[in-house]
Amino acid sequence: MRRLLAILSFVTASFLAYASEGTPAPQIVNVQGRHTISLDGLWKTIVDPYENGYYNYRMQPHSDASSYFADRDFDADRTVLYEYNFNSDRTLMVPGDWNTQRETLYYYEGTVWYRNIFDYKPAPDKRVFVYFGAANYDAVVGLNGKKIARHVGGYTPFNVEVTGMLKEEGNSLIVKVDNKRHTDGVPTLNSDWWNYGGLTRSVLLVETPMTFIRDYSVQLKQDNPKMVEGWVRLDGEQSEQDVVVEIPELKSKVTVRTDKDGYASFEMKVKPQYWCPENPKLYDVILSSETDSVKDRIGFRTIETRGTEILLNGEPVFCKGVSIHEEMPYSASGRAYSEEHARTLLGWAKEMGCNFVRLAHYPHNEHMVRVAEEMGLMVWSEIPVYWTIQFDNPQTYANAESQLVDMITRDKNRANVIIWSVANETPHGVARLEFLKRLIAKTREMDPTRLVSAAMEKDNIDATTVTVKDELIEYVDLISFNQYVGWYDGTSEKCDRMNWVFDVKKPVFISEFGGGAVYGRHGDVSERFTEEYQEDLYQRSVNMMDRIEGLAGTTPWILKDFRSPRRQIVGIQDDFNRKGLISDQGGKKKAFYVMKKWYEGK
Ligand code: GCU
Repeated sequence: MRRLLAILSFVTASFLAYASEGTPAPQIVNVQGRHTISLDGLWKTIVDPYENGYYNYRMQPHSDASSYFADRDFDADRTVLYEYNFNSDRTLMVPGDWNTQRETLYYYEGTVWYRNIFDYKPAPDKRVFVYFGAANYDAVVGLNGKKIARHVGGYTPFNVEVTGMLKEEGNSLIVKVDNKRHTDGVPTLNSDWWNYGGLTRSVLLVETPMTFIRDYSVQLKQDNPKMVEGWVRLDGEQSEQDVVVEIPELKSKVTVRTDKDGYASFEMKVKPQYWCPENPKLYDVILSSETDSVKDRIGFRTIETRGTEILLNGEPVFCKGVSIHEEMPYSASGRAYSEEHARTLLGWAKEMGCNFVRLAHYPHNEHMVRVAEEMGLMVWSEIPVYWTIQFDNPQTYANAESQLVDMITRDKNRANVIIWSVANETPHGVARLEFLKRLIAKTREMDPTRLVSAAMEKDNIDATTVTVKDELIEYVDLISFNQYVGWYDGTSEKCDRMNWVFDVKKPVFISEFGGGAVYGRHGDVSERFTEEYQEDLYQRSVNMMDRIEGLAGTTPWILKDFRSPRRQIVGIQDDFNRKGLISDQGGKKKAFYVMKKWYEGK
């Protein structure tokens, strides 16, 4: 009984400790359209594998004063015992993962404490938020000695209000980032990508008026392409205000009045050039309330399916895609985070003839989505509900749904995002179906305008006749699935003998196919991991796809070799998944040109 009480008190204390941080403020959209102060650069760090800075020796949470959030100055008073010190030479660059910045952190999974000391001149008529583009995986934020918020989920933004908490000099912002994997996590324990930890995207101070335009939706009405519809949400005391929404280039303007909750919806007549890959037209959209104004660049298009076709602006489109992990090109292959990384990766996709990219397996940084929009690349965006998620765990569902909401909130105004995907290769089962049906319902409730998908798996009818027999098909808009005929299923010649049959009339979308090759490794076409094997596999794969009725798109796996702890052949993989069409150093493999040629003919 005593032991049970001890366990209960520890669990309660831990929950209360974490709960005591509070939760982040609702997401502010389009922060790049706001007044921001960057906190990027070198932050002081402490690597803390036993979470010494958070728990005492009995694993009970410290008070703030005894935790590392207190940021004691070890040098100030040597008579007092503090067994930690941020004022060392141990720094990490923010944004950036820690794994590729420090050899000793290559495989590290645990807590790293980050500290930034900054000055700030508070203004009486301004609110201030600390905005994180992402932190992988579990982040606890402390300011000037006090825990203030916690965010779980490694790939979505969050912002914490710090109005009235800042001082003119020496603000101590401390973030405990823990990238340990958890069975009940999203993703869970096993994933085929590197578990890059850290403040992996930019950290900004965002200043707003006391009442500001926090969120808005401005999109083309899907059943009337001559109308824009949307809504605006103010945040602050002065909730009832006139808000003007203007698209100067279209000479469209409407004024609405927000209600006591700060909310108003609107419609406006437009005659736009529709966004499409050939003409990725974006318009300045200016939203002005009595106390705030924010500008965004927004495109207008319709997306829908008709039978086995995907229709963009009412016309059938074939999604000539490629899958991409969020890894920087060249260099150490760490987490990508910058506009430059995005332009390089997406430039390679354009060079291959793509009009579409699958941003796998989690929401990428906002630069990737916005640069893709400018370049005319449609986007499939997904949350990391990947493989063996704990589908019967309510906390796991809440985590998945929170990441879904954050993803849609951030990117719902991006015309190029045409597909939200809720899962990848998840094993069939009753709990899994209910879990995914709830996510799909939530997606459609938040955004009824875009297509919803999941990367399912193929089912064999016989050795060479395949289909997709997943109960999920009824709830998604595409028959999207990953298949590896010629790599995990037989050798390349098997592609020539495959028949694909589908008894559901929806667009067929092959969300992964391919095989590995080491750039510059040449040999017989039958030898795995040679460029010749991969080239032959790709040629036979595209020939096979030409025979698939209702195929509306594909995103071969994958643009660039990427790190994975599951890929261990020394001298061939060396912790890299080698299915890239381009090597981690930017070398284009022979298969790249097979895809380029096939897309040119599409
Ligand atoms: C799976 C999975 C990918 C993985 C790939 C592979 O389909 O979705 O995340 O990297 O196969 O085995 O290379």
